[in-house]
Amino acid sequence: MILSIESSCDDSAVALTQISTCKVILHKKISQESEHSLYGGVVPELASRLHAVALPLLLEYCKPYLKEIKAVAVTSSPGLAVTLIEGVVMAKAVSIALDVPLISVNHLIGHIYSLFIQKQAIFPLTVLLVSGGHTQVIEAKGLDEMKVVATTMDDSFGESFDKVAKMMGLGYPGGPKIEALAKKGNRKRYGFTVPLYQSPKIAFSYSGLKNAVRLAVLDADKKDYADIAASFEYTAVAHLTQKLKKYFKSNPPVNFAIVGGASANAYLRSEIQKLLTPFNATLLLTEIEYCSDNAAMIGRVAVEMYDNRMFTDMDELTVNSKSGLCSIAQS
Ligand code: KG4
Ligand code: ZN
Repeated sequence: MILSIESSCDDSAVALTQISTCKVILHKKISQESEHSLYGGVVPELASRLHAVALPLLLEYCKPYLKEIKAVAVTSSPGLAVTLIEGVVMAKAVSIALDVPLISVNHLIGHIYSLFIQKQAIFPLTVLLVSGGHTQVIEAKGLDEMKVVATTMDDSFGESFDKVAKMMGLGYPGGPKIEALAKKGNRKRYGFTVPLYQSPKIAFSYSGLKNAVRLAVLDADKKDYADIAASFEYTAVAHLTQKLKKYFKSNPPVNFAIVGGASANAYLRSEIQKLLTPFNATLLLTEIEYCSDNAAMIGRVAVEMYDNRMFTDMDELTVNSKSGLCSIAQS
């Protein structure tokens, strides 16, 4: 089996995946949400120190399986450099101790493969990746053929939920909190402008919407917060669907997937489903358990990489906080 390690942001996670069947044998995670909640976002140095404590604890669960581990996979990019390094150092130590190869995994490809945990991979695929750090549309033809075709010019979709939650004093992560509050609100009360609505560009932007919400919050009572949350969620999703609709005009979808932490959002899922219906396209979704950061998705990519002997030398395995998918420019 493959031992996989994930520490790109605020979740310490390990998993064991059986190579021949892709079965997840063990999957453990320690989240740091409560520690970062105080600050309304992730504090990198604090996250790094918490990983240093959590990762060895998680490794304890793997002890009964050590003899069966054939490779160690670890997220090496993108993410916070100070947290990625914690996972990479542990991966190197285990690789030396067990004398097994290292597999260096891109976190975003991990999110895409979260669709295929304990399943066969399906390609080609158009993917909407919505997380705390990214908002991208990706054309994925296979493990080594992925192209970013649209990205955000500033904040990401998930991050905008975190910032709006922070403005309302709801804590971190904001996505689930805003989603719950929005259910009680009126989506149409605040007519926030849909970002880049008139622009022919197929790109995303959340900073203007975030500022519009900030002004609304400043001017509101707490009793208005549910309506603000609902109107914000409505506009944030409308921005994604409007741009996707434009994109689909010249690239009709066949298999379409939503991945990343924010793909757990039920309103987003239902609006995308509506958008796909006229195309008869299939919507692929990750199980809720594996939407947010986890090591099982890293293990799933690693099985594919193991089969293709895609190993990385100890000396060459370094962290890269920025590297996105392949070499595509992120305008
Ligand atoms: O993929 P992920 O776990 O971490 C990164 O790679 O960034 O995504 C975390 C992000 C956070 O910004 C969180 O607020 C957002 O996903 N999120 C949501 C929901 N659940 C998590 N955003 C909107 N609605 C949700 N239900
Ligand atoms: Zn992620």
